[in-house]
Amino acid sequence: MASAEGQDIYLSSLKQFRKRSNVRQVVENFAEDVASHTMSNISNSCLASSVFRVLGVGSGHGKTDLRILNSIATAIESSQKKKPVIHTAIIEPSDMIQEFKSSVTPLPQTLCSLADVSFEWHQETFQQFIASCPREDYFDMIHFVASLYYMDAESSLKSSLKLLASGGAMFCILSSETSFFPKLAKKLKPDCVNLGSAKKIYTQMDVRKIAQRNNWKYEELSRAHYSVDISCCFDESSTEGGLLLDFLTHQENFRVNAESAVYREAMEFLSEECKVDGNGAKFIQPEFAAVVIYKQ
Ligand SMILES: C[S@@+](CC[C@H](N)C(=O)[O-])C[C@H]1O[C@@H](n2cnc3c(N)ncnc32)[C@H](O)[C@@H]1O
Repeated sequence: MASAEGQDIYLSSLKQFRKRSNVRQVVENFAEDVASHTMSNISNSCLASSVFRVLGVGSGHGKTDLRILNSIATAIESSQKKKPVIHTAIIEPSDMIQEFKSSVTPLPQTLCSLADVSFEWHQETFQQFIASCPREDYFDMIHFVASLYYMDAESSLKSSLKLLASGGAMFCILSSETSFFPKLAKKLKPDCVNLGSAKKIYTQMDVRKIAQRNNWKYEELSRAHYSVDISCCFDESSTEGGLLLDFLTHQENFRVNAESAVYREAMEFLSEECKVDGNGAKFIQPEFAAVVIYKQ
């Protein structure tokens, strides 16, 4: 885990990224669709079990998780014709977990009318959870929404597969191979990725290769774009621009710490990648992809 100061920089830069983009709306809609598709391929034995168990990894403040839960509840209700009972374990190392807890105490009315939902909270990393969690064949669905970057992908997915019940599924939402983040990461030194303990900008291609190497049943789903206004990154006096740059490069205090040639190269890359709108604002359009892995 990053130091407390490093964690603060990470959270401030994530906040800038969210403030200047429509990433929230896009990822929530996309996750709801991916969850709904995944539910249509989960085995009947999972759908019919008395409690449907979900594990959210790196759930942040939980807004995406609530949309995923809506999809799960709707799918169980329509296939089983009964009010679903869903138990959700949440893994989130940062204090955002407190925000998530508050937002479900009480449960939002829309979800409450759809299902009986209970939560268990784990304020820790996935690695810590795995080290202390003896459960196997337990969860019916596991999801990693933009969180796989913070752990070793292959060992995390292997551990998750053990946690999954037969017939269950796990999905990852992450950058597509041709998207802004992996392209920029390739330009920078890959071993410099360090913001918020990020390890690597994994893409759907990395997950596909892991699935193929391990002979897992998997599928890739369609993609979703969002936009980020990066104009402030070009203003060297802007603190917010500095934080956003940290998020884009996944490096702490990039303006100060990067070698000047690397900094110049990154800024040139941003200039080449961005589109300019009628008001002169500069936008990039990163892309999410999704991979679903099924336990047979
Ligand atoms: C980009 S955010 C995505 C949050 C959420 N899934 C969403 O869609 O809004 C990544 C999340 O992963 C969490 N995270 C970082 N390192 C982690 C780790 N080792 N294990 C689990 N979660 C981690 C962060 O605290 C953060 O909430």
